[in-house]
Amino acid sequence: MIKTTISTSGEPIFHLQAGDASYIISIFQGFPLHLYSGPAISDDDVEDLLVRVPHDSVIPLPAHPENNWFSCDIAPFEYPGFGTGDFRPSAVMVKDLSAQTASAPAAALRYESHTIIPGKPVLDPYPAVHANENDCDTLILHCIDPGSFLTYDLYYTAMRDYPAICRRTVIKNGSDSRTASLLRAYSASLDFPEIHPQAELVHLWGSWGRERHIERTPLLHGSMSVSSRRGASSQQHNPFAALVTQETTEEYGMAVGISLIYSGSFDITCEVDPFGSTRLMAGILPEGFEWRLNPGEDFVTPEAVIVFSGEGLGKMSRVYHKLYRKHLCRGEWVDKERPVLINNWEATYFTFDDEKLLSIAKEAADCGIEMLVMDDGWFGQRNDGTSSLGDWFVNEEKIRCGLPALVEKVNALGLKFGIWFEPEMISPVSRLYEAHPEWCLKIPGREMSISRSQYVLDITREDVRDYLFDTISGILSSANIAYVKWDFNRNLTEAGSALLPAEQGGEIFHRYVLGLYDLLDRITTAFPHLLLEGCSSGGGRYDPAMLYYSPQYWTSDDTDAMERIDIQLGTSMVYPAASMSCHVSASPNHQTGRATSLETRGIIAMAGAFGYELDLTTLTEEDKELIRHQVADYHRYYSVINRGDLYRLILPTDTVNGKTGKCAAWMYVSEDRSEALFTFTVIRTSVHPVYFVKLRGLDPDAVYQDTATGKKYHGDRLMNAGLNLTASYHDGDAVMVHLVRC
Ligand code: DGJ
Repeated sequence: MIKTTISTSGEPIFHLQAGDASYIISIFQGFPLHLYSGPAISDDDVEDLLVRVPHDSVIPLPAHPENNWFSCDIAPFEYPGFGTGDFRPSAVMVKDLSAQTASAPAAALRYESHTIIPGKPVLDPYPAVHANENDCDTLILHCIDPGSFLTYDLYYTAMRDYPAICRRTVIKNGSDSRTASLLRAYSASLDFPEIHPQAELVHLWGSWGRERHIERTPLLHGSMSVSSRRGASSQQHNPFAALVTQETTEEYGMAVGISLIYSGSFDITCEVDPFGSTRLMAGILPEGFEWRLNPGEDFVTPEAVIVFSGEGLGKMSRVYHKLYRKHLCRGEWVDKERPVLINNWEATYFTFDDEKLLSIAKEAADCGIEMLVMDDGWFGQRNDGTSSLGDWFVNEEKIRCGLPALVEKVNALGLKFGIWFEPEMISPVSRLYEAHPEWCLKIPGREMSISRSQYVLDITREDVRDYLFDTISGILSSANIAYVKWDFNRNLTEAGSALLPAEQGGEIFHRYVLGLYDLLDRITTAFPHLLLEGCSSGGGRYDPAMLYYSPQYWTSDDTDAMERIDIQLGTSMVYPAASMSCHVSASPNHQTGRATSLETRGIIAMAGAFGYELDLTTLTEEDKELIRHQVADYHRYYSVINRGDLYRLILPTDTVNGKTGKCAAWMYVSEDRSEALFTFTVIRTSVHPVYFVKLRGLDPDAVYQDTATGKKYHGDRLMNAGLNLTASYHDGDAVMVHLVRC
């Protein structure tokens, strides 16, 4: 709901009520200001929330000051400009390319009018939260810059059932002859006057094989930012951060999450100013970005989704999970039970043929596994990582029976068939490169950096996208292919495009992302039944925008169960279980060399879209029997894991009995609280460890039964006294307890 009242200065105040959160904007002297956001407040009279600091002589005032306390350098702006009196980081910075004389970039917004509509308009061309009139309301603040010919529409969608506000900005060039250049165009900015001095930032850092580790750091005066300059959202930082206070835990305290629905270079900056106000903003990374806005054109920013929790990070995550599952991911697979798959990558790497794949498929069928995925190496002359990307035709020396026959044989075993592509790439050793060397991203006169022996295709070009669409569609139409793993194994360098004019060089990174979305859109529209899994050397582009097209994502190339605990719990900060692709791989693990029992590997991989990635033909009958049980368990627990609420109980970074890195625990609870699945794992054991874990999210008055032992517990006992898990463990032991309400 969006309520409008009028302030004493005769200007509107907008109170956006989103679930149990409030977001209040006030127009003051024409400036759109942020008054409050956080857990819901009921007062209509909130004008006194505006920060009033008597100015000193060095702080700029507006041109016609109406009091001695309103300064642009202190005011909590909704969409701060640049060069006009606010010296904090700006959301927008504009260069006037038609100016007669030199002027520094500048921008400042003034409210002109507003529109409130039920529902949420679709603003092409971006992936965004989708919701209808029953789900949300949208406020559009129509703003002008009195010193420029640009106008700004600030979009705010308040979700009715979620404490979430979706924000983006549309910048328009309303002139018929003048041209501007956008140097910064963030999606959203939020000023919190009240958080400092206890503010902390939670974010997800990583690298290849170590994605999305949770880090929490106190904020000091000045800026802290997490960003990617890689042309992809990246393994190094995820487009997410949460502002919390020192006392915030998983269950208590304030948390404000900001998650950017974008797959390219991004920035999330948080700055604490000398008055203790904290500015949090998210958008496209300004470095390397410059967008030319010709007369009549507009620029739509990606969407930022802001979630407010007064009950800690746990609730914030659960809101993101449900919101993204129900209102971001699309297609028939979103809520459908995903097939348990076997992927041949860690079983064979590049060395396989149709016979080998069929031998794995036979064992898989015998174990109850439901889909075979043929990974990298089936096309062109690809026998290692050095060739053939772009040559999307079947290598019949390896797949001797041909793809349609292979798929038929796999289907005849009762398995679906999936296939790997890396569409955005080209190997210098390929037929495609021989035919079209100009299709790569490159800057004339500069040597091209090479990474994993491959270059990046210039998918800002329509002809390149057409080629990819045609060749991928050709393969997908040639056989009964149910699934695609869409990989992306290097970042963008020397990003030049042969078709764009020189003055649009600053658009290439962003146009690349738009090209990717266009291609994904065409493929998913042409093949609506396809289950698409995103991948990027593991989870290198695991972001909300990719989930809009692919409801599951390969979480990490590190399949070691103990390492996956950190990675999966970090990923769960924002992303729902159903989006996290998790596989049981061989022991000792190929990435870390660590040996872990098959039982533990199964329990840890059950935290998401479940599958296997090892050579099933080498397993003992005992192992296969265990796999049959794991597959059955996964189906039994599918709903509670993938549709339930997640509670992170113990993180590996938590201190338990004076030590960190010892154990971890989490649980899922069905929405109606009738079922729960609890997981506890000992990462590194010690002598006589004592473990009590208190459960969360249960009905305190209900009685729950452990489905394995038959033992009954009251919900209040499980949550207040906990489960006594004291036992003698080995490193890597894991325990799963399934509870149903009696
Ligand atoms: C990187 C992926 O993350 C792996 O799972 C595998 O598909 C390889 N690429 C294949 O090259």
